[in-house]
Amino acid sequence: MSKVALITGITGQDGAYLAEYLIKKGYVVHGLKRRSSMFNTDRIDHLYQDPHVENRNLILHYGDLTDSLNLTRIIGETQPDEIYNLAAMSHVKVSFDTPEYTANADGLGVLRILEAVRLLNLIPKTRIYQASTSELYGLVQEVPQKETTPFYPRSPYAVAKLYGYWITVNYREAYKMHASNGILFNHESPLRGETFVTRKVTRAVSRIALGMQKKVYMGNLSSKRDWGHAKDYVRAMYAILQQDEPSDYVIATGITTTIRDFLKMAFAEIGVEIVFKGEHVNEVAVLNYIDERMFIERVGEAYLDNFKKRIGDEVVGVDPQYFRPTEVDLLIGDATKARTCLGWEPKYDLAALVEDMMLNDIKLMKKESYLRKGGYEILNYFE
Ligand code: NAP
Ligand code: GDD
Repeated sequence: MSKVALITGITGQDGAYLAEYLIKKGYVVHGLKRRSSMFNTDRIDHLYQDPHVENRNLILHYGDLTDSLNLTRIIGETQPDEIYNLAAMSHVKVSFDTPEYTANADGLGVLRILEAVRLLNLIPKTRIYQASTSELYGLVQEVPQKETTPFYPRSPYAVAKLYGYWITVNYREAYKMHASNGILFNHESPLRGETFVTRKVTRAVSRIALGMQKKVYMGNLSSKRDWGHAKDYVRAMYAILQQDEPSDYVIATGITTTIRDFLKMAFAEIGVEIVFKGEHVNEVAVLNYIDERMFIERVGEAYLDNFKKRIGDEVVGVDPQYFRPTEVDLLIGDATKARTCLGWEPKYDLAALVEDMMLNDIKLMKKESYLRKGGYEILNYFE
């Protein structure tokens, strides 16, 4: 008999990688998907199976973390061995605009899942993974951050996730549930949402290289993040639920980098050096040097002449609209417990992550540019 997993947030970055990983391990995967006006299944289309296929290993259900009845019904119908609660309003800056909704989905949503498992008498069968976050450390009380570091959340998102963390611990202790928190530090990939900083950068650098965009406006360039690859991090989620005893684990690389240096690394991927000048809102980055051979190899000869004319131009600026009312300045994790108890090690370092994201975005933006130039039928919605 195949094991059964239920993934909330299956249409997101982590949900897509985890679904593929579990299917390869022989699981039947059920995914919770919000109704939207478009399919919104791009990240999992390669795994999708028509409902008429027999013995499907990927089955999607409409649902929402804010709807208890719906969650209880789906958990009851699917009887999962493992639940991975990845669904969340996951954007820190947006949580300042939608604090009540964020608390409902990211905080109470966790309670709804735990309580459904309890009420359905599934405690002996179902293990639960809660997607906790390094944002819990916020105004960091210790460097690096580990499982015992006190939390100090700095956004409505992090405060909601704090509730999710503790209600998971409480249900574990009160009802002997196999419920665990993965305290994951930032993890990125070619599937990362376009408004998170790494993907915003790799998309913008690709578009600047192809002549589709002149400049990118950023927020706080000095904050530091411990960035890993999402592919490595979903392996950790799975490993956490395979342990005999539930527990909470930090998952991180142990290396931290500024946003400024991430920008430099992304430009370096196409053979371009940028130099930062000025301070705070007046800080800019200027194109300083091109390694033509590398630019041709990564971007293509056809784009070189136009790009060379831009040497000396400003390609990065700062726009305060991207600042957060309260910022998390520094995150760096100590994943000793995961390395020791789970045997987890990341395969990607930051350079390999940036390369993966840049190669993907250059390809994607070339396709977008081709479509825009009429290389393909352009749909006109008003005719
Ligand atoms: P993501 O790409 O933003 O995906 C979030 C997923 O949650 C999407 O499938 C989204 O559906 C779904 N969702 C949002 N609100 C929902 C609701 N009310 N009901 C049902 N589904 C809902 O996030 P991610 O990067 O994969 O992160 C996965 C989880 O890990 C999140 O809980 C996040 O907070 C947490 N986390 C992420 C990181 C990181 O660096 N990536 C680090 C630590 C923790 P739509 O597609 O319909 O929007
Ligand atoms: N998004 C964004 N856009 N961030 C910017 C920008 C910009 O233009 N400019 C600078 N930043 C800075 C932010 O201020 C923050 O300090 C840092 O870049 C990272 O921002 P995000 O990529 O949006 O991620 P995050 O760290 O706030 O949150 C992500 O990681 C958490 C784990 O630590 C999300 O995935 C959360 O869901 C996750 O819990």
